[in-house]
This record gives sequence, C-alpha cells and structure tokens, in this order.
Amino acid sequence: MSDPSNLIREALGAIAKASTEGELETITLDYLGRKSGQITKLLTGIGQLAPAQRAALGQSANEAKRAIEAALANRRAELEGARLADIAETEAIDVTFPGPPLGRGHVHVLTQVQRQIETVLESLGYKVELGPEVETEWYNFEALNISAGHPARENWDSFYFTPQLLLRAHTSPVQIRAMQRLKEPPIYIITPGRCYRRDAPEATRLPYFSQVEGLAVDRGLTVGDMKGTLLYMIQSLYGSERKVRVRPSYFPFTEPSFEFDVSCGICGGAGCKSCRHKGWLEVGGCGMVHPQVLRNGGIDPEKWNGYAWGFGIERMAMLKHDVDDIRLLYESDLRFLEQF
Ligand code: DAH
Repeated sequence: MSDPSNLIREALGAIAKASTEGELETITLDYLGRKSGQITKLLTGIGQLAPAQRAALGQSANEAKRAIEAALANRRAELEGARLADIAETEAIDVTFPGPPLGRGHVHVLTQVQRQIETVLESLGYKVELGPEVETEWYNFEALNISAGHPARENWDSFYFTPQLLLRAHTSPVQIRAMQRLKEPPIYIITPGRCYRRDAPEATRLPYFSQVEGLAVDRGLTVGDMKGTLLYMIQSLYGSERKVRVRPSYFPFTEPSFEFDVSCGICGGAGCKSCRHKGWLEVGGCGMVHPQVLRNGGIDPEKWNGYAWGFGIERMAMLKHDVDDIRLLYESDLRFLEQF
C-alpha cells in the first residue's frame, strides 16, 4: 500500500507543474477520483488493516487528501489569476482612450482646379452661372451659329436622347441662357460644368469631361481685354512667369476667333519634350462674340459687344500637375488622388 507522505510529495510536485485547468483536473482524478484515485483507494483499503494500524493510517490519508485539495485550490486560483491578468493585458479596452483618427478625404483634383479658376475669376467680378447637362439642339448648336448641316457640328458630335435633346457637347450654350436670364449687360459670367462628346477614351480625351466657359458682354470690349483676362487667370493659376498667346482660329460663335496657349512651364517657352518643342501648350478657344450669338441671347449687337472663352478643366489640371493621361482623373485610384 502506498505511503501517504509519498503520495503528497508526488501530488504537490505535479500540481506545481500543472499549467492548465485540464491538467489539474487529471491530477484530481488521479489522486481523489471516486473510484480509482490513489488516496481514495488508500482510504477504502483501511478496513482490511489490523485495528491498531487503522487510526494512524486513516488520519494521515485524510491529511494527505486535505493537503492535495488545498494545493489544487491554490494552483487553480493562481492559474485563474494569471489568465485574468493576461486578458487584462492583451484585451483591455480603455473607453477613455481617444479612438484611431478617421481617414479624412479631400476634394478631387478636378474640383480643386475648378474652384481655383472660379476664385480667380470671381476676384475680377465674374459670377458663376450654371446650365443643364441635357441640352436642346437649339442651345447647343443653332443659337451658337452652328446650323443643321454645318460641318462644324462634327467637332461637337454628342449623345442624343431625341433629335432635339442631347448631352451638351460644350458649356457654350450657357452663354445664351445667361444672356437671356440676365437681359441687361454688363454681363460677366463663368460657367463650369460637365460636357459630353462621342469620343473613344484615350490618353488625351474622354467622352465626358469638364469645361469652364467665360462670357463678358459690355460696351466697347476688345481682344486686348480678353487677352488680359486670360493672362491674369493663367498667371494666377500657374505663376507670374507664364505668358499667354492667341492664335487665329475658327469657331462659328466668335468673330474673330482664336486658340489660346500658355507658355510651357518646364522650358519657359524655349521648347522641350513636354511641349513637343513648341514652347507653348494649347489651353482652349476664345474670341469676340459673334453678333448673331448676341442677338440669339436677346442682346442688341449695335449697343453691346463681348468676348468669350472656353477650355477643358481636365487639361488645366493636367498642365498644372504634369499628368499625362486624362483617364487617371476618372479612375478613382487613391494612389493617384492622394497626391493632390
Ligand atoms: N466651345 C468650344 C469648344 O468646346 C470652346 C470655345 C471656343 C468656347 C471659343 C468659347 C469660345 O466661348 O469663344 O471647343
């Protein structure tokens, strides 16, 4: 028969080494299990001993049982304490701790450039005027002197809902709407907005894009006034070292008509790879408003005259930030957008 003091030593050693509740459970069964626990067996075997030995062995076996129970309870408490301490360490939630900062977005680079253009022109007294993106054939073409069958219509081929209703191909129709709404010059407006054309997407064009149109109607305006306005706008946006030039061109709604260019910011106009050795970058069209266009807007060309311009916002943004593919502006790729 086992000696209780040996059993205690063995059991206490095993308990001290146990590191999980499961191990303690096994030890409990080994020593105190109701059927085959070693202490239990000791106690049930006492009946077979000579009466003189019974009392002494009974007492020491019971002491062993209590000692093992106490050691088990202690070790359980220790393990539970360690478990809680561990949770406190790794899973603690401090409700007073400031949360992680929210990822803040910012306005899209095209919106930034549009707002800069608006701010610069507003400082010259221009008001922002908006028009519909679904436009009638009359405003998009007729009123701008582009009659049915005019070859220039090809440049502004758009998407039609009906023969009379289309997605506007430029912001120029807002010139007419603004003249009709405001009636009395002086009129100084700019009109930013989305336009659409039947173009396949490529590095320099998309079937949807944005323009900013400007219109001034007043007495005795000149090409010099127009050029000065464009120069002020370009220098405000790109820096005072930039120059503007106008080249003769053709638009049905202006006479005379021009394209306007800005000097290349990389070579300063000397010619380099990014301006294809021209020294100039094309920005948009402009000109003195055609008398018939004034008439279509309800304004008497005998009393008033005007100038107008239009250019793409994407192109302005690309020139400003050295972007070589217009599609990047619409792909919503954060790696691109976060740079601005
Ligand atoms: N509407 C023209 C276009 O989309 C741009 C333009 C040229 C607008 C000359 C004007 C202008 O106001 O005077 O290509």
